Amino acid sequence: MTTIQAEAARQISSETAQRVAFLNRGPRAFHVVLAQQFDRAKIESLCTLSEMLRTIAATRAGAQFLQTLLPYRRAMLYFRQPSTRTFLSFTAACQVLGMPYNSVRERFTSSEVKGESEEDTIRVLSQYHDIIIMRHPAEGFAEHMAHVLARMGREVPVINAGSGRDQHPTQALLDIYTLFRCFSPPARGGIESAYASNPFAGKTIAFVGDLQRGRTVRSLAYLLCRYEGVKLLFVSPPELQIGQDILDHVERQGIEHEVSFDLAQCVERCDGLYITRLQDEWDVAGESKSIDYSRFHLTFEMAPRFKPTLAILHPLPRRSELDERIDRLPQAKYWEQVRNGMWMRAALMSHIFQVDDAVRDHFRQYYTY
Ligand code: CP
Repeated sequence: MTTIQAEAARQISSETAQRVAFLNRGPRAFHVVLAQQFDRAKIESLCTLSEMLRTIAATRAGAQFLQTLLPYRRAMLYFRQPSTRTFLSFTAACQVLGMPYNSVRERFTSSEVKGESEEDTIRVLSQYHDIIIMRHPAEGFAEHMAHVLARMGREVPVINAGSGRDQHPTQALLDIYTLFRCFSPPARGGIESAYASNPFAGKTIAFVGDLQRGRTVRSLAYLLCRYEGVKLLFVSPPELQIGQDILDHVERQGIEHEVSFDLAQCVERCDGLYITRLQDEWDVAGESKSIDYSRFHLTFEMAPRFKPTLAILHPLPRRSELDERIDRLPQAKYWEQVRNGMWMRAALMSHIFQVDDAVRDHFRQYYTY
């Protein structure tokens, strides 16, 4: 690394540290905007909490207990882009914790059609709610609104549920939780220690598809860089390569990595395959039409070359990049991944509202053997 590169890296680290310091409150996340807010201790704590929540919720008495945790808080889901999983898993997570919620999804049903700005809309929403979960096409909008609310003296937590092409940190948390459960399933009675290990050392995780515009990949790459010994493969058409900022970050963290334009060559050495669809909603002039995406489809014909322990993940929705016949293979983990999202998002809100100790105490009292 040259002196100039070292200085640039130092500036990036210092700028990110300042952003993270604003978003976190000491060891806790307050706003959730960047995957870089989550170190191994936080990831471990949230995965353990997710595991406890799903265990407690499996009994009627446990589910009733969880619903006593947050009935005095209200959540707002402000979604400016389409969503099935993120929206509904957050609403389901609110229900798990007994927290009422409201939503604004369509501009034409809000006073934005009368000319009210998005900023003013969110200022208003913050008056009625204790947390705002936000999906927005503009990168940085959630972080900007966190600052706006702080300046007006109504600082409620802002959760980034997808920001432009930049980040989707809550998806990355559920993704890493899913990978943990695949590589190192928690043993009965061993939940409290299951997520302290590093099951990623020596594992090769491939990100496949439209890596340039896929925000879930970017956020998960940041989280995986917390685990030394992992190897990351970025497999995409040349036109849709992962951003240089992510490659620089991976490099700075000393994580082994490789860029490839050939999925067929990579399949058999993968322990994790994270497939993504073509994100053509971001096209400016139909440029995706000229890209041969079929070479980045995971086909059923490739299955004999999969490791038996391979974990195939997809943030969904899928198109034809993931053959439906793969659904019946034991390597297909994407439906579990969807369900894990509800528990991880419930864990995150328990953490933010500081009822996580009540969950841990309840688990230790009633669910350890
Ligand atoms: N994975 C994901 O963000 O899905 P939705 O767009 O359906 O929320």
